Amino acid sequence: MKIYKSNSVEDTASAAGELAAELKPGDVIALVGDLGAGKTAFVKGIAKYFHSKNDVLSPTYTLVNEYGGDIPIYHFDVYRLANPALDECDWIDEYLFGNGITIIEWADNIKNILPEGTIRVEIKAYPEKGEDYREIKIC
Ligand SMILES: Nc1ncnc2c1ncn2[C@@H]1O[C@H](COP(=O)(O)OP(=O)(O)OP(=O)(O)O)[C@@H](O)[C@H]1O
Ligand SMILES: [Mg+2]
Repeated sequence: MKIYKSNSVEDTASAAGELAAELKPGDVIALVGDLGAGKTAFVKGIAKYFHSKNDVLSPTYTLVNEYGGDIPIYHFDVYRLANPALDECDWIDEYLFGNGITIIEWADNIKNILPEGTIRVEIKAYPEKGEDYREIKIC
């Protein structure tokens, strides 16, 4: 397990870059954290590491965005999929078991379909420690 203390969006992106350096095709990253924790900021750090030129935006309504770069990146936001029926999620398997990097915001909403070996990233704010302070736990 790794814990990063972040004091800025840039710190969060750089922690993401360190994780990205260890990723391989097919890896799945589950991002967990409240609204505004910095999940999308973390995805931006990963996309940057892989030289993606696409804009990274939370795909809350479209569920998935694809970014080009050194490796395909699939960016999910399953905020609106809370407690989905399993047969509604079949189509996600294509991504989860594909050869890109799949990153999922609100991943706990689809906990039951995440593959074994999914990397879990928890981002948490501590308002008492400052507006921009976050702790990022990766395991
Ligand atoms: N240390 C930090 N790391 C990341 N974001 C930070 C940090 N400090 C402040 N912020 C701010 O917090 C917000 C994080 O937004 P972001 O969209 O990444 O969150 P999110 O977890 O994806 O939210 P949502 O659940 O709505 O998708 C941004 O406005 C960013 O500027
Ligand atoms: Mg987001």
